[in-house]
Parts: sequence; structure tokens; C-alpha cells
Amino acid sequence: MAGLLERAVTSGPGRAVAGRLGLAEPPHLRRGRALPAGPVVLASLAGSDLAARSLAILGLAPGSPVLDGTLLDGTVLDGTGEDPAPAYQGHIGALVVDARGLVTIAGLEKLRAVLRPAMRALEASGRVVLLADADVEGPEASAVHQALDGINRTVGKELRGGATTNLVHIPSDLDPGDLASTLSFLLEGRSAFVDGQAWTVGPSSSLASALPKSALAPEIPGASGRFGSEGADEGGEERHAPLAGRVVVVTGAARGIGAQIATVAARDGATVVCVDVPAAGEPLAALANQLRGSALQQDVTSPEAGERIAAHVASRHGGAGIHGMVHNAGITRDKLLVNTDARRWSQVLEVNLAAQLRINQALLDGRAGGITDGGRLVSIASTSGIAGNKGQANYAASKAGVIGHVRALAPELAGRRITVNAVAPGFIETEMTAKIPFVQREVFRRANSLGQGGQPVDVAETICYFLQPASGGVTGQVIRVCGQNLVGQ
Ligand code: NAI
Repeated sequence: MAGLLERAVTSGPGRAVAGRLGLAEPPHLRRGRALPAGPVVLASLAGSDLAARSLAILGLAPGSPVLDGTLLDGTVLDGTGEDPAPAYQGHIGALVVDARGLVTIAGLEKLRAVLRPAMRALEASGRVVLLADADVEGPEASAVHQALDGINRTVGKELRGGATTNLVHIPSDLDPGDLASTLSFLLEGRSAFVDGQAWTVGPSSSLASALPKSALAPEIPGASGRFGSEGADEGGEERHAPLAGRVVVVTGAARGIGAQIATVAARDGATVVCVDVPAAGEPLAALANQLRGSALQQDVTSPEAGERIAAHVASRHGGAGIHGMVHNAGITRDKLLVNTDARRWSQVLEVNLAAQLRINQALLDGRAGGITDGGRLVSIASTSGIAGNKGQANYAASKAGVIGHVRALAPELAGRRITVNAVAPGFIETEMTAKIPFVQREVFRRANSLGQGGQPVDVAETICYFLQPASGGVTGQVIRVCGQNLVGQ
């Protein structure tokens, strides 16, 4: 039950007081497969056509494209005048900036010129997507590469109304098909709580470029290429099934984030195997039935957990094996290190880290019901594993360990076209975080650029972006789903 203070600030008069204390209602975030309502504006700053070609694969013909800070109709964007003319007509839904080839400090002015008017013109839950070179050489180009990161992080902190910005690093000669699943994820509401982040999309030897357009493009009824609306998307989840015919295993699926991962994977067409401890057998079975998947009561710390998962998949779901293995099961046993005994230490490291390594080893040895070539491994880390967190030395160790494991395994498995990635959630509204005392919870919840806690579905959507066959070029990455949490790194 909500505490006294929580009830006070959520009541009518309490809300007014909370607003004055800086606890105003956070913005509503566009979620799901919905594209922005307004046009997607494309700015190519140094002659790259990659973004344009990738948007075309998604069926998105950009509105008002800009080149070098000049609209195609000749309007110069945001000159240095005191009161520049509005550069974009009305609101825009998203600004995609293709900054590949931008290697000089002077060239950064072009980025300022297209970003500045967008800061005002971007609609609520709008998007800025920056594309930059992954590999640069020379001191000035390296400085510019890092400058783009600083700009991305700052824009995230300055945008309002639930709008976000993210930066994608791209190696030279990337096939536009390899970028499409990432652009689609970033523009849609699926990336609602991913803000101020940077990651790399590389070439894929997987199916991405061979996929039919329909496997990548969002299908919004009534959308003519570049437009879509949240309303139009309601109730239409079954239209799009990139995971059809594929088995996805989710540990810790009985509740919280795991239950949402299973639900979103099933929405995307997967046959889901829901794994959790026997004590959670009832909600586990109910969820598996609801999703038309199967339930496996299995403690992930058992030495035979990997073998049992493979045997279950082989017997219940035929010989196809596992496409996606999602290591979500996790626990906390928080105490200051000075009070952390060996039991609290080992419990957390066992469930959150050691179990994943053992299960992966078993599922990767080629056995029936194991992970198929071209498959996906996804782990849940945490911002605590990146920035550390007082009272969580065991948890931070386990989650930082997950990140180390993912980065080491990705290049090892590249030859089998298996990708390995992690999400690092910040504050997500679940039973785990509901136990945090209200005032502390409210501080965690608000201390990010979006002014609110994330929902389990936000983590689930990012995981399902990794799981997509079209995301074969995304590996060894850690994406924070934290609304650009302001604490720590
Ligand atoms: P939760 O406590 O609501 O759910 C965890 C699930 O894992 C439960 O169903 C539990 O029965 C299961 N589980 C625990 N030990 C298990 C074991 N040995 N074998 C099989 N299943 C087991 O947790 P929540 O919030 O949904 O978290 C899910 C994951 O996300 C965890 O790895 C957690 O560390 C991580 N995370 C959560 C954040 C949050 O804000 N809620 C933030 C950062 C990371």
C-alpha cells in the first residue's frame, strides 16, 4: 500500500504542492510501435546518404530534408541572427542527423545549425537521432567524434516533453539494411526510455539485408510512409512478427521485467519459454498459457539448468533450438559492504552472473535444444554495474560482470552469427523497486532526463530490438534503459 507521503503527493491538492517542490507530473511517453506524428526531418551534414537509404527501407520518405544546414528550398537554418525565422514548419516528429564524414571542429557548426531550431520544433516524445563514424583517425577527427558524444548527452538533458536523443556509431561501408532495425527502434515509441545513449551498429552477415521490407518496417494503418500516430497503433500489436517461428527463452519470467520481456517477444511472434523458480510456478504457468508458450520451473543456479532448458526446448518445441536466450532472473541482497557476509555475496553473484555463464556454456555446445547459429544472447545488467551504488557491492559486481561477459563473448561468437548484448536498466517500476522507501524511490525515479521511472515494457522493447533477426549487426553492446539517469557515469 502506498505510504502516507506517497498518497499525499498523488492526491489533488498534494499534486499542486508537489509541483511547487519540483515534483510536477512527468511527461507522458509515446510507447510501442508508434512513429512520431510529425515528419521525420533528415539532415545530411557531410554528404553521406546512408540515413536516407536506410529510412527508405523503412518506407520513411523524409520530409524537409536539409543539407549542410540549408533546407532544400534554400532557407538557411538558424543563422546567427537574434531571432531566426522558424526553420521547420510547425512541429517535427524527429530529426535524423547523418553526421558521417564530419571530421572538423568548424564542421560542428552545421550540427548546431540543424539542432537549434529542432530543440523548439520537436513534438512531445519526439526524437533526435545522430549518426556518426565509428572509426576515425587523427587528432581533430577524434576530437570531433568525442564532441558528438558530448552534444548527444547534453541535448538529452535539454529536450523537454519526453523527447529523446541517441547517437549511433557506424563503421564505413555499412549496408543501409543493417541500420534499419536500429533506426526503426529509435524512431518508434519502443525506445521511449532510452535517452542520451550511444552504441555501435556494425555489418551483419545475418539475414538483415535479405529481409523483406515488411519484416523491418513499422506497419501503421493509414500511414503514408513517414507518418504514424500513437492512436493508430492501439490494439494492433499482432501485425508485426519479426520473431515468428523462433523460440525465445526468458528466465525470471514469472513477474516484473521478465514477464514483460516474454509478453513483448510473444507480441513479436516468438514462441516463448518462461523459466522461473518452482515457488513462482502459478504465475509462471498462467503467463505461459496466456502467451501460448511453455513454462519451465527451474532455478537458474542449478548446475544442470542449461541442460534442462535445452531438453525442455527440444522436447516441447521441436528441433529448431533456441533463437533468443534472455538472462533476466536477478536478485538483490543490499547491505553496505561492511555488513555484507559471504552468503549475501555469493547468492547475488550466483543468480545474477555465474548461472548465466554456466547456462550459456551448455546451450552453446551444439546440443539439441541449444542456441542456434544466428541466435541471440541478451543479459540484464544494471546502471549499478556501470556507476556503482552504495549498499550494492555484490549486485554491482554481478551486473558489471555481466557487461564484461557480454563484451568477451560477442567476438567469440561472431563466427556463428550469434549476437551478445546487454541492457542496463536504471530505475524501473517493479516489485523489486517498490520495496525502496518512498522518498528514496522518488529521488531515483526523478533523477533522469525524463523525470520518471521506466516501465518494464521499456526494458522489454530494447531486448526485443536485440532479438530481431534484422539486428544482426548489433553485438557486444550495452544499452542503458534509464531515461539518461543522472547519477554516476
Ligand atoms: P523481480 O524481483 O520483480 O523479478 C525477478 C524474477 O526472477 C522473479 O520472478 C524471481 O522469481 C526470478 N528469479 C529470482 N531468482 C531466480 C532463480 N534462481 N532462478 C530462476 N528465477 C529466479 O525483478 P525485476 O525488477 O523484474 O528485475 C528483473 C531483472 O532486471 C533483474 O536481473 C534485475 O537485477 C534487473 N534490474 C532491475 C531494475 C529495476 O529497477 N527493477 C534495475 C536494473 C536491473
